[in-house]
Parts: sequence; structure tokens; C-alpha cells
Amino acid sequence: MILRPLPLATQKHLLNIGLCLFLLWGIYDALIGPDLVSELRDFTGRYGAYLLLISLLFTPLSLRLNWVKRHLTMRRNVGVWGFLYGVVHLVVWIALEFAYDWSLMLDEIAGNLFILLGVLAFILLLPLAATSNRWSLKRYGYQPWKNLHTLTYVAVPAVIAHHFMAQKSDVLEPILMALVLVIVLVWRYRNAH
Ligand code: HEM
Repeated sequence: MILRPLPLATQKHLLNIGLCLFLLWGIYDALIGPDLVSELRDFTGRYGAYLLLISLLFTPLSLRLNWVKRHLTMRRNVGVWGFLYGVVHLVVWIALEFAYDWSLMLDEIAGNLFILLGVLAFILLLPLAATSNRWSLKRYGYQPWKNLHTLTYVAVPAVIAHHFMAQKSDVLEPILMALVLVIVLVWRYRNAH
């Protein structure tokens, strides 16, 4: 019997369901764990950052790997889920860590470069997530839409710098992520000319 691959639309649904279940599992795991706030904050921050970085890998890898090329449209799903994990991360910070104390949060943002980088990344990701749909692409036209989406190349470095600065000792992971990012950026630069 020859196994046929599932249609792309079904694969996309499965990807969305998988990433949603994974997020729910992370929330559940943090809820039953000993330190809800830091577990949930770190889980969503870390996997959000992974997903955003993976979304940047799609285009360069699609030129070499046919499998990635066939699944190129999933880049958007992966990026939007990275943003949604980031939203939960931010909600944890606002609601659980600072209990909506806005003036304390502003002090923290102003006095802490690593928090400022997280906020910057989040603000940059907002218009990207909001326009990651076919309707926006049609409305604004391909070139302006594409120009706007080059903001990812600022947002993801800000996320990785934020990740790096959040670490007290274990900086290997953000360093490896930064290395992957540099390779993607060099590739982009070379292919832009
Ligand atoms: C308004 C925006 C943000 C705020 C206020 C914020 C805040 C924080 C805080 C308080 C930590 C914990 C630092 C510690 O361990 O002491 C953290 C860690 C982290 N954040 Fe954010 N963050 C923001 C945006 C983002 C975004 C958009 C991402 C990526 C999706 C992200 C990814 C991470 C990562 C990867 C970590 C390290 C997690 C770990 O140590 O396992 N953050 N953030």
C-alpha cells in the first residue's frame, strides 16, 4: 500500500492544532508545577523564540530542500504561533508577575534594557502578526507588505538579545540561536543584491 501525503491544508490544520495543544500542555504543566509564573513565562518565551527563528529559516531552506519548498506557506503559521506564545508570555508578566501595576511595569521597562528589548520585539511583531493574512496582502499590495515584513529581521534579533540577557548563567542556547540568525541574515544580505 502506498501512503499518500496528507493534503497541504490538512497538514496546516494539524500544525495549528499541534502548536495549540503544545501551548495548552505548557500551561497545564506550569499549573501543576511548583512555580507557575516563572515556568509559564519561560516556557512561552522560549518556545515563542524558537518558533520565530524557525519561521525565518523557511525561505533559505526552501531553496535547498524540496520538502521545505512544498511547505513554504506554513512559515506564516509558525511565525504567528511564535507571536501568540509571546502574547501569553507578556500576559504572564503583566497579570501574574506585576498584577497590573502599570507604574511599576514602566519603571521596570525604563530601568532594564533586557525588558526594553522584549517590549521592542513585541511592538515590532504586532503589525506583522496583524497583517499575516491574505486579506492584508491583497489590501496593501505585495511590495509594501513585503517591506513591512522585513521588520522580522529586527524583531527576531531583539527577541534573541532579550533571551540572552534574561539568562543568568546558561547562555549557550541564545548564543546558538544568534549563530543561526547570523547565518540567515548573511544569506538574506547576499541574496538581496
Ligand atoms: C513586552 C514584552 C516582554 C516582556 C515584558 C518580557 C519579560 C520577560 C521576563 C521577565 C523574562 C524572565 C527573565 C528571568 O528569568 O529573570 C523573560 C524571559 C524570556 N523572554 Fe521575554 N518578555 C517580553 C517579550 C518577549 C518576546 C516577544 C519573546 C519571544 C517570543 C520573549 C522571549 C523570552 C525568552 C526566550 C526568555 C528566556 C526564557 C528562559 O529563560 O527560559 N520575550 N521575558
